[in-house]
Amino acid sequence: MTSPYDALAPYYDEVVRGRRDDAKVLRQVLKKYRCRPKTVLDLACGSGKLTKEFKNAKVTGIDLSPGMLTLAREQLPEATLLQADMRSLRLPGRFDAAWCMYDSMNHLANFRDWTRTMQTAHRHLNPGGVFVFDVNTVTKLEAMVADSPFMHHFKKGMLVTEVSKQKSRYLWQLNIFERQKDDLYRLQEAEIPETAYETERILEVMERTFEDVTILDPVRKRPSKHSLRLYFAGRRAKMK
Ligand SMILES: C[S@@+](CC[C@H](N)C(=O)[O-])C[C@H]1O[C@@H](n2cnc3c(N)ncnc32)[C@H](O)[C@@H]1O
Repeated sequence: MTSPYDALAPYYDEVVRGRRDDAKVLRQVLKKYRCRPKTVLDLACGSGKLTKEFKNAKVTGIDLSPGMLTLAREQLPEATLLQADMRSLRLPGRFDAAWCMYDSMNHLANFRDWTRTMQTAHRHLNPGGVFVFDVNTVTKLEAMVADSPFMHHFKKGMLVTEVSKQKSRYLWQLNIFERQKDDLYRLQEAEIPETAYETERILEVMERTFEDVTILDPVRKRPSKHSLRLYFAGRRAKMK
């Protein structure tokens, strides 16, 4: 299997809900920048379900997982979809907006990779174009370690997720039980490592790379040490 997401792909959209609400928050961030993108680069597009909400945009989506790209092909039939790595992507075109949603940045192995992905977004934006990403905060991942395992039911079975901490990484151990018949299940296991960094550290690189950088906590008045999910956004400098 090329990516742990290939195992999860058939159930992803049943397990990850509320994409319309996530798209609303993204739209709210873009609105602050007066950005109504005609062209979008979706980094780690996954199943494409969130980006599907941006009906008027011409979308290019990239992801590492062939399984997720197969889903995206259904959700975004008009889009250009590519199997590629967001850390090193080089496409010939530029876009009005780029995003990397649903803690896809956390999937990168170290902070150097986070920085490289911010640079990927920067080099693919038109002058004035906007980059948005959201993250699981350290607070959220620490809480998940304390509270796991979690269970999600889907039509054909269930997913049991255990999150543990191993040195500086958070390891999501996925156990996917797919019902074969009656009480007989097939178990598939996958491991997804995540990293998380302090807000100030992320902000420092964002401010070095982009202009007008903002942070949003979608459920609190302002970001704080209690924030569980944060949205970061910034604009590529306009040409002088
Ligand atoms: C939690 S899913 C989010 C998918 C989608 N953005 C969404 O909002 O549902 C994380 C995605 O990141 C992708 N991914 C992880 N590392 C990647 C990388 N280096 N380059 C491209 N995609 C990556 C995975 O294959 C997976 O589809």
